[in-house]
Amino acid sequence: MKKLVFATTNAGKRFELMALLEGALEVVGPEAFPDIPEVVEDAESFAGNALKKARVFAEATGLPALADDSGLCVDALDGRPGVHSARYAPTDAARIIKLLAELQAVPRERRTARFKCALALVKPDGWERSVQGLCEGRIAIAARGQNGFGYDPIFELPEGRTMAELTREEKAKVSHRGQAFARLRPALLDLVKD
Ligand code: IMP
Repeated sequence: MKKLVFATTNAGKRFELMALLEGALEVVGPEAFPDIPEVVEDAESFAGNALKKARVFAEATGLPALADDSGLCVDALDGRPGVHSARYAPTDAARIIKLLAELQAVPRERRTARFKCALALVKPDGWERSVQGLCEGRIAIAARGQNGFGYDPIFELPEGRTMAELTREEKAKVSHRGQAFARLRPALLDLVKD
């Protein structure tokens, strides 16, 4: 089976992307290449960071490389934490507590937010494509739900449930990652034929 290197150690992202790929490609993670130094995510955009990671992995491994850079942009915080979503606080639980505290005085109608996801696919011959996906919602007053990962328990969809109250299949249909993946799917399936 053709191999694809997925340049992330984030278990939640990996689980979701593996499910979306439905076994079409053999996915290997960065742990298979311990000599590749950690990529510093210092670009000012999700797409910039995803491309940076995918380029490093494609060049170092000689395999097609897929990278995901994603995060949460909150309108009342002028788009923060945005590209800094992972570094906003040390753990998922601490990030949720900090975000709810920052928004404590913000009423429901001004708690609008969106998840953004950039996926970049880079081949060792230099071919590259990057796509984006968006998911609109608002920050809940308190965390709800056990599924998903990261900020999912405090991200409320227009239908009323939080992202963490959706099944994996439901999340894949509406999420920023699911949207981005749908755009990249033809290029990923082409890898099977390459
Ligand atoms: P990075 O893309 O690895 O820099 O980190 C993205 C940050 O956004 C992490 O804190 C993730 O937990 C969070 N994040 C990305 N995608 C999702 C998602 O689908 N649900 C919840 N949080 C997410």
